[in-house]
Amino acid sequence: MLTLDSVWKSNSESPPDFILKNCSFSFRERSIYAVVGASGIGKTTLLRVLNNLTSIDRGRILLEGQDISMLHPSEVRRRISMLFQTPAFVGDSVRENLDFAARFARRNDTDFSTLMEMVHLDHTFLDRTVVQLSVGQQQRVCLARTLVTKPDILLLDEPTSALDDKTADGILELVREISQQEEFLTIFVTHRRSHARKLGQVILEMAEGTLRSLS
Ligand SMILES: Nc1ncnc2c1ncn2[C@@H]1O[C@H](COP(=O)(O)OP(=O)(O)OP(=O)(O)O)[C@@H](O)[C@H]1O
Ligand SMILES: [Mg+2]
Repeated sequence: MLTLDSVWKSNSESPPDFILKNCSFSFRERSIYAVVGASGIGKTTLLRVLNNLTSIDRGRILLEGQDISMLHPSEVRRRISMLFQTPAFVGDSVRENLDFAARFARRNDTDFSTLMEMVHLDHTFLDRTVVQLSVGQQQRVCLARTLVTKPDILLLDEPTSALDDKTADGILELVREISQQEEFLTIFVTHRRSHARKLGQVILEMAEGTLRSLS
């Protein structure tokens, strides 16, 4: 469903080093993948490449057989949602943030209370100020925001890295629940193998510019 076809991607250093070296892999729909790899190996870059946020040097990324570089960026954004390492917000309240995402996706049918329920936050959170929430609560809000566009694919860039173990486990459990319920293809990158094992149905290792299966 989402395929890397002989992808090469260099970093911005001079002389360039390749983060992805002739990397090919097919991520199947409705599956949860965890990608482990050391810091700086290129996990964030991999997700940005899969989402067409970063261009590649050579090869193709195929979304259901279509080259994503040929699709309209808004189409890619709608179908593939990404949760970042640190929560980032555009407005003051939770509602404003969800509203912004809904307007961006041109969706006026989104029930924000249902989204809050999905991420296990009380609907009164809608009127709370995002900067006053805990990081765990902020990641839940970010997860709710990724659901606004009704994507098929969820990319998660270490959303648990700033959290204590218990809060991180809660987020991983929530991601599993939502991914299965919504039948997402989910790709979660992390440098922590324990987190990868908790969430991933398939565990991959990123090393030497390619992906190989560990499970
Ligand atoms: N936009 C970019 N263009 C080119 N190279 C980049 C870009 N962003 C990061 N890099 C380089 O690519 C390499 C991989 O970085 P990346 O952030 O993808 O690693 P990572 O595995 O996510 O690391 P971490 O676990 O610390 O988040 C690094 O050498 C980095 O300097
Ligand atoms: Mg990273």
